Amino acid sequence: MTHINRRQWLKTAGLASAAITTSGCKLNAEPNKLPGALVEDNPIVKLSSNENRFAPSANIKQAMINAMEKSYLYPPAHYGPLIDALAAKEGVTKDHILLVSGSNEGLRLTGLMYGQNGGEIITSTPTYKALLSYAKEFGGVINAAPLDADLTYDLDELEKRVSNKTNMVFLCNPNNPTGTIVDRKRMTDFCRTVSDKTMVFSDEAYSDYIEEKDYPTMVPLVKEGKNVIVSHTFSKVYGMAGVRVGYLVARPDIISKMKPRVMSYINMMGLDGALAALKDDEFYQFSLTRNREAKEHIYKVADELGMRYIKSHTNFVFVQTGRDASQLVKDMMVHGVRVGRPFAPLTDWCRVSTGTMDDMLAWEGAMKKVFA
Ligand SMILES: Cc1ncc(COP(=O)(O)O)c(C=O)c1O
Repeated sequence: MTHINRRQWLKTAGLASAAITTSGCKLNAEPNKLPGALVEDNPIVKLSSNENRFAPSANIKQAMINAMEKSYLYPPAHYGPLIDALAAKEGVTKDHILLVSGSNEGLRLTGLMYGQNGGEIITSTPTYKALLSYAKEFGGVINAAPLDADLTYDLDELEKRVSNKTNMVFLCNPNNPTGTIVDRKRMTDFCRTVSDKTMVFSDEAYSDYIEEKDYPTMVPLVKEGKNVIVSHTFSKVYGMAGVRVGYLVARPDIISKMKPRVMSYINMMGLDGALAALKDDEFYQFSLTRNREAKEHIYKVADELGMRYIKSHTNFVFVQTGRDASQLVKDMMVHGVRVGRPFAPLTDWCRVSTGTMDDMLAWEGAMKKVFA
């Protein structure tokens, strides 16, 4: 069968009516939506990059449109308001915050600084690789322990591996691609103890989606003066992956070492969009609710297909389909749906991002055909 686009698929499935306008564009049914805000109909349902399909909110979008007036300016002189807002949100002083062009830039910068010239970085695998791959490019040595049986970071094993060769421990919590979190008390205890011996990096890109109430961030340890760096992003719950806004929280002496090494600026649209995002609680809550609904749909379909999955604290779900993930990517693309790439060594698992309910129905239809 040749590739079909999403509209064709929805029509075939009899689901096209409400969501598709006559112009072939899809109206995003989100709160505070700008009149006429249309999202171009994409022929492929993309569930492979953990983007927020409900974004941008009207408020964030309007702030970015307004900021285009300022696009002639170099941005660093205008970082102040966002740094102040983030310092207030995180409960730190502004010299604890480093703005980066998407948290990936913060991850790479850290990987470069701590991995270069043979620096050892301890982590688990599979996990998010931006920091680790970059460190490796500059001579870093990655010491990666397997995840435990629940596909969670094995902190006991990581702690055992720390030695005087270790330059950093990298934790991704919640973890990408598994969607798991470590026990809250163990996480804090681990970071407190291990940061006396080496630097600990806590990638908290998905922390907004954590389903446990009051699950801790590691920012309080930064405030205690520990060797801890935390990364956060506007790419996920705030839906701003396309304009690249992220930040690190760390002790001022660490931030000031990193600052001169930052390679690219956040642009003026990203700065004002992020400020608007911090005030848009309606959209934040909306994103979380829609994400929960999409996850529930994935769980239901996986149950129907008799597949194991991990209850996720992120905007994606890891499902054990039993099929090699690179083959599954091809099989799903035949039906117009792109799912996540393989994550060795868990290659018979598939990471599927959440999307709109139309996206989820397209994924369900494709899965049921592929596994018929
Ligand atoms: C765990 C994790 N950290 C960081 C990022 C990078 O996000 P960004 O560079 O858009 O802030 C991602 C992106 O998917 C991620 O999954």
